[in-house]
Amino acid sequence: MSKQVVSRRVTVPDILALKGRQKIVSLTAYTAPVAALLDPHVDFLLVGDSVGMVVHGLPTPTAVTLEMMILHGQAVVRGSSHALVVVDLPFGSFEGSPEQAYAAAVRVMKETGCQAVKIEAGEALAGTVAFLVQRGVPVMGHVGLRPQAVHVDGGFKAKGRNDDERARVIAEARAVDEAGCFAIVLEGVSEALAAEITGSVRAPTIGIGASPKCDGQILVTDDMLGVFEWTPKFVRRYADLRGSITDAVSRYAADVRAVAFPGDAEVYRFKAKE
Ligand code: KIV
Repeated sequence: MSKQVVSRRVTVPDILALKGRQKIVSLTAYTAPVAALLDPHVDFLLVGDSVGMVVHGLPTPTAVTLEMMILHGQAVVRGSSHALVVVDLPFGSFEGSPEQAYAAAVRVMKETGCQAVKIEAGEALAGTVAFLVQRGVPVMGHVGLRPQAVHVDGGFKAKGRNDDERARVIAEARAVDEAGCFAIVLEGVSEALAAEITGSVRAPTIGIGASPKCDGQILVTDDMLGVFEWTPKFVRRYADLRGSITDAVSRYAADVRAVAFPGDAEVYRFKAKE
């Protein structure tokens, strides 16, 4: 019998061990083929509830359901073999009680095969985070700009513009750190606030719009690949997929209309009985 080399996935302790040693690299993924392309380059893949806006055309993430997260989580786990896979718990699936959160997290982990869940949690949900961690669910926290709070905040607004807000974000990060999160996404905060939080928590911080002063970085893949016309200030575009897709599709349409596609090489012609 031939010996198979099974590549081992990045684990939760691997991510924790990177703090202070090496920057952590992450991107969002929602489908198997894209997960397969990103997988060799990142430490973890996040199946973010941004899938609602990016893939399903929803105006905010609040309509995303547990079923949608499970379907996309399954695809990303199938498409990857190296990166740790983290799946977001969507709005409404975890805030009701620690038991509700535990049931949702266990369902996501069992049905997708992912290694961890992410929760947008402030101080009020630190008890829920602890409840999950104590029962064997690895939890990534998410503080600062919390997209699921879009209706409370009146939009997607960066946090930490005044002393009160800065103190609140620091308290949120410390609370979820003490509750046992293995990493904390810091979204939409100033460089000074990111540096202060990163220096005072045990868990690695993963920044998005939060400066280089975090232990790692994450971006929404479709943003950094230039799928959309509008790019947030904190995103660097590494590709122009919108341009490439528009160019490819307009050439295809022109070829079909000019009867230049399909050509000889793209046609089945069987020798017998034709
Ligand atoms: O849903 C998501 O994609 C996220 C990232 C932006 C961190 O939470």
